[in-house]
Amino acid sequence: MQINNLSETPSILNTFMSELRDKTVQKDSMRFRRNIERIGEIIGYELSKSLQFETHTIETPLGNSETVLHQSDIVLCSILRAGVPLHNGLLNYFDAAENAFISAYRQHKNNPESFEIIVEYLACPNLDGKILILADPMLATGQSMVATFEALKPFGTPKEIHLVSVIGAQQGVDYVSKAFRADTKLWIATIDEKLNDKGYIIPGLGDAGDLAFGNKLQQ
Ligand code: URA
Repeated sequence: MQINNLSETPSILNTFMSELRDKTVQKDSMRFRRNIERIGEIIGYELSKSLQFETHTIETPLGNSETVLHQSDIVLCSILRAGVPLHNGLLNYFDAAENAFISAYRQHKNNPESFEIIVEYLACPNLDGKILILADPMLATGQSMVATFEALKPFGTPKEIHLVSVIGAQQGVDYVSKAFRADTKLWIATIDEKLNDKGYIIPGLGDAGDLAFGNKLQQ
């Protein structure tokens, strides 16, 4: 898997990341959502450089302009609910993309330290020969990404697979590297050190879904 860790080159992205992590700034959920969206836009821009381009002629009011435009049938798939702001950021740039949504959540049985990924809701167009961008802001264990991709398999075989995430734990990055086919590309804003015993990324930012959309009742 090709891993593109955007924090390896310092940029304005670091400002958005530091606001996402800061427990005081996090209290403003609109800013939290907008920062994830801004990171989605930056990752979308970086990812776009890997797409295929073709020359087109654009008629201006005063003449013709030769330009190269990307020629990709993109399906943008996000994991509910924390994936929604990241989806919006990617869709701001890939505005012609088709869209897929899937719900994946951790079901803790008796032991709070172990969980199963449950996929319930799924809406997806045909994926055959298309570019699949699979977005989940927190790549913790990597199990949600893998369970999601398994659930998408009946919808066809994409030509390219791109995984997009904001913060990953090294363990999750290693897990998806082994589980996805070798030509998959990961685009990630930063990779943190480890997971705690509840599967949260350390130092991470906390629970992205709750910070974006409010606390949920645990079931
Ligand atoms: N999901 C989150 O929202 N945060 C984590 O740290 C891990 C998974």
